[in-house]
Amino acid sequence: MEEPALFAELGIVDGLRILDLGCGDAATGRKLLDAGCRSYLGMDGSASMVQAATATLHGTTGRAVQVDMEDFSASPSSFDLIVSRLALHYVEDVAPVLAACHRCLSPGGRLVFTVVHPMLSSYDSGTQGTRTSWVVDDYFVRGARQREWMGGTATWFHRTIEDYVDALKTAGFALSSLRECEPNEERFAGDVGEYERPRRVPLFLLIAAGRL
Ligand SMILES: C[S@@+](CC[C@H](N)C(=O)[O-])C[C@H]1O[C@@H](n2cnc3c(N)ncnc32)[C@H](O)[C@@H]1O
Repeated sequence: MEEPALFAELGIVDGLRILDLGCGDAATGRKLLDAGCRSYLGMDGSASMVQAATATLHGTTGRAVQVDMEDFSASPSSFDLIVSRLALHYVEDVAPVLAACHRCLSPGGRLVFTVVHPMLSSYDSGTQGTRTSWVVDDYFVRGARQREWMGGTATWFHRTIEDYVDALKTAGFALSSLRECEPNEERFAGDVGEYERPRRVPLFLLIAAGRL
């Protein structure tokens, strides 16, 4: 559901050198390459995701590497745009990641990322299946949250919206856009029930910032 807001925010990518942090299967990378970006590098901490990304990028100039975001570094000015989609909330401390982004972006380069909306990442009631109610609690209690997920434990790190904005400013970025990814009725193809549900609470937060 954050895809329309993300691509609207990315705008024309023609000729850009793009880095994707937490690229998953690089489906986004494939779209960016189809849209004419000059180069695409996906990074992901999971070997199986990098394998899936490599398959997705087969036959293109894009590539994917296994690197934890916390450890990534690249040459100064080696990218024009950094994208990160639904991955930064898995990082405990975003400050070093944002500093590394700042170092490797060209002057005027942009960082655009989405995360699970802090309204949702604050508290997890453990409900399985389709949610019909949401609880916002412990909003100003930052840090790890966990839930049982596919036979294991999924851990994410809650931050407030203000925390993301402050971390960007500290890393040397200027906020250019903040979107809460309101659902687009056309994407629900007449399924009013499914459209009404995500209108009740914001699910995703998108932040775009420019390198100062
Ligand atoms: C919800 S998936 C999103 C994948 C992709 N960006 C997309 O939108 O389809 C989150 C991805 O972040 C990766 N990830 C989580 N923590 C990471 C870390 N510390 N460093 C690098 N990748 C990480 C996971 O392996 C996973 O592929």
